[in-house]
Amino acid sequence: MSGQNTEKQILAMVILLVLSVASLGAYTWFDNGRRTEARSEILTKDAERAAWTFANNCRECHGNDGRGSESDASLVGPALNTPNNTYAFLTDNQGQLEGLQTEFRYTITCGRNGTPMPPWSIDQGGSLDGFKIDNLVTLITTNAGNAWETAVEHAVHLDEVTIGNMHIALDAAEATLKASGWFADVQAAEGAVARTEAGDAELSSLREAVAAAEEAGEGLQEAQDALAAYEKGYTALVLAVVTIRTSDDSTAIADARSAFNAASSVQQEVAINRAWLKVASDYRAAENNLETAEERFAAGLPVPTPATQVTSNTCGQTSADLADWLSSHSGSS
Ligand code: HEC
Repeated sequence: MSGQNTEKQILAMVILLVLSVASLGAYTWFDNGRRTEARSEILTKDAERAAWTFANNCRECHGNDGRGSESDASLVGPALNTPNNTYAFLTDNQGQLEGLQTEFRYTITCGRNGTPMPPWSIDQGGSLDGFKIDNLVTLITTNAGNAWETAVEHAVHLDEVTIGNMHIALDAAEATLKASGWFADVQAAEGAVARTEAGDAELSSLREAVAAAEEAGEGLQEAQDALAAYEKGYTALVLAVVTIRTSDDSTAIADARSAFNAASSVQQEVAINRAWLKVASDYRAAENNLETAEERFAAGLPVPTPATQVTSNTCGQTSADLADWLSSHSGSS
């Protein structure tokens, strides 16, 4: 009788044991799933943050969507948004992924000496901290949450704001042009400036002195300083003319008039034509800027235009070091 009870107890214990092992297994499986989900959520957040950093700092060279010169030859940066860069992540090749991430972290931190790729880390004179750089590396190597699409949305928004500001600048330049009573013919204004400047004997002799010093290879600095000092007077005079013709502030106009009246008649003539040239050029420049921006926007290109070559040392790289470094890290580029 007691033997039967013992058997039942043993059976119950075995069942319990099996159940608890099974539930532990099930929980581990469930927990792994949760962990993977949490990890992908973190990656997505990191990549989304990077999309904003990218739109603000990188797209002028690498393109709004990160496809760089692959999508448009006018972009100087190579494609970052490419299947090559996400392959290791998607195939779960940890070793390859880490290698690629190390390389990209180094490139973004230090830039590439002798190429337009600038250093971004604050230590190297850039504007990004390690966290932002890591997020950019995540964006480039995972495209988690399709963050490249978010980068494009940010780009469109930023460019709309820029174009809006350019409209405002053009309106202001147009208002100044209208108020001045001049017209927007830059060539005609240039001709008028050249004709009247020929009458300014002092300006001509200062310019000749610079040319002579250049040829003689000495005294150039002094000659240039003397010309610059004389030109400074013209800068003030041109502003006075613009104020007289376009301002509606009577005190400012009165001040400008007395400055203008103190100049010689030749200087007055030159200043008037230079003021015309300035107002006409400002208007044309505002018009051209807006036109170029709208064309680029319509073509899906970033509105800012790329900066120039970086020649400074970046993390102490020289161009030769860089070539060595790249050949020893020939993972992706
Ligand atoms: C002024 C232009 C310019 C800007 C701005 C710029 N880059 Fe670059 N970037 C380049 C060029 C050019 C290269 C290729 C350098 C070379 O010839 O090796 C490059 C290379 C890279 C590479 C290496 C790509 C590869 O396949 O080896 C990465 C990663 C990179 N840039 C990320 C960024 C990030 C992130 C930003 C913004 C924080 C940025 N770049 C901003 C021009 C730029």
